[in-house]
Amino acid sequence: MTADVFTTRHPFLDGKPKRMLIDGKWVEAASGKTFETINPSTGEVLARVAEGDAEDVDRAVASARRAFEGPWSRMKPFERQGLLLRLADLVEKHFEELAALDTLDMGAPISRTLGNRLRALGMLRYYAGQALSIHGETIPNSLPGEYQSFTLKEPVGVVGAIIPWNGPLTATIWKIGPALATGCTVVLKPAEEAPLTSLRLAELCQEAGVPAGVVNVVPGYGETAGAALARHRDVDKVAFTGSHLTGQKIVEASAGNLKRVSLELGGKSPDIVFADADLDAAVPGAGMAVFANSGQICSAGTRLFVERRVYDEFTARVAAYGTSLKVGDSRDPETNIGPLVSAEQLERVTGYLAMGRQEGARPLSGGERLTGGELSKGFFVPPTVFADVRDDMRIAQEEIFGPVISAIPFDDIEEVIARANRTQYGLGSGVWTRDVSKAHKLARSIRAGSVWINCYQAMDPAVPFGGYKMSGYGRESGKQHVEEYLNVKSVWIRTE
Ligand code: NAI
Ligand code: MG
Repeated sequence: MTADVFTTRHPFLDGKPKRMLIDGKWVEAASGKTFETINPSTGEVLARVAEGDAEDVDRAVASARRAFEGPWSRMKPFERQGLLLRLADLVEKHFEELAALDTLDMGAPISRTLGNRLRALGMLRYYAGQALSIHGETIPNSLPGEYQSFTLKEPVGVVGAIIPWNGPLTATIWKIGPALATGCTVVLKPAEEAPLTSLRLAELCQEAGVPAGVVNVVPGYGETAGAALARHRDVDKVAFTGSHLTGQKIVEASAGNLKRVSLELGGKSPDIVFADADLDAAVPGAGMAVFANSGQICSAGTRLFVERRVYDEFTARVAAYGTSLKVGDSRDPETNIGPLVSAEQLERVTGYLAMGRQEGARPLSGGERLTGGELSKGFFVPPTVFADVRDDMRIAQEEIFGPVISAIPFDDIEEVIARANRTQYGLGSGVWTRDVSKAHKLARSIRAGSVWINCYQAMDPAVPFGGYKMSGYGRESGKQHVEEYLNVKSVWIRTE
């Protein structure tokens, strides 16, 4: 069965190679090269896409610089707000098409991508609101004599945005939104696995009236186009989302001109279930904290700590819950769990499944690639729960980015805090308990950017999100996000 949104033929997938957007024009790569993007449910080629490289990045950065120095960065707040609201209206109008593109290109089930409506529109309208609230402060000083001192907030300039494939629509909006709100310009490099939605969104930016050069999109590979953007001397800031290994390369590449960097990286987030929790709620909550999007979420709660006296019962219930989910073609509205994004990601995840068994973990459910019938053409891994996991196993320490839970028993609260924090990462975390004191204690003790209590993965455009430790730095969403795109200038006026 296929959802209705796939029965209308969307003109965007017209069989022609997709071009890149530079300086308001849709152009081929300077090299003339293209690459394929595929549907991971079926392996079918969806489109050929212009393959950008250093020369294209150069042209895009030059156009972003020209646009930044033009009238754009002096546009009035109301005008920037209006632009973002028009873009939000267009995204709303074309939302089903954008959701369908995400589903086709990276394999998230259509039920999930259609469910992103509130988030996608909410972000654009939130940044539209923020466009009116950017201002400095008047600060009294103690110098002898008469001086006025105040601050101005100014856009940082040209932003290189590099995003992964696990949620193309919302990831693109998360980078472009604050840039439009503050008056920055952007060169966005989508992930090579799923570039289509970013390109379609760029068309909508044009339709909304975003001036030429303000938003440029250069698809291509990380080692070429991405690296060229990260090291470019005329880029003022790089906003990156992806793996910590690439994040480290971005930081090194940034040194040439000491550009600003914000990093939203991976995690191995703890999800802690106390015996006093509402277990009926915690079973699907802890399950979907990992199985959602086939585990391809940076803040997935993949280290499931369960209090020992309910460990066997709880892990068995989470395994049964996982088994009850429908794995299949992401276009089917009944599908809960789609494929992994690529053959490469499949190899990586199945490698961890084999490693888990070798390390002595016991699969309670899943544990092998699915190849029955139609599934053989795609990259499907079922929800998997490993029991008997020890903290030092690689499946308990490394980001798998697949639907794989490592379930670990614990005995008391101090112990679980120490063990939860024993990781190089610090992005998300979950706590399930009915005891308000435990909830508060954990909220303060876990070294991570988000703590979700009796829920998991709650997100809102107004609430900051980001990492501690090797999960990165900088915040996205909230007022802090807008600040990441601003410089502070102090102005002194001698008034005597
Ligand atoms: P990646 O971090 O290599 O890719 C993310 C983005 O960075 C893509 O647009 C890619 O083209 C770009 N990139 C790659 N190398 C670059 C370089 N040297 N300079 C500049 N840009 C570069 O992640 P990848 O290879 O897609 O996935 C590998 C693993 O990374 C996953 O299995 C997962 O564990 C983790 N990951 C984590 C994400 C998160 O949201 N925390 C997102 C994507 C991947
Ligand atoms: Mg694809």
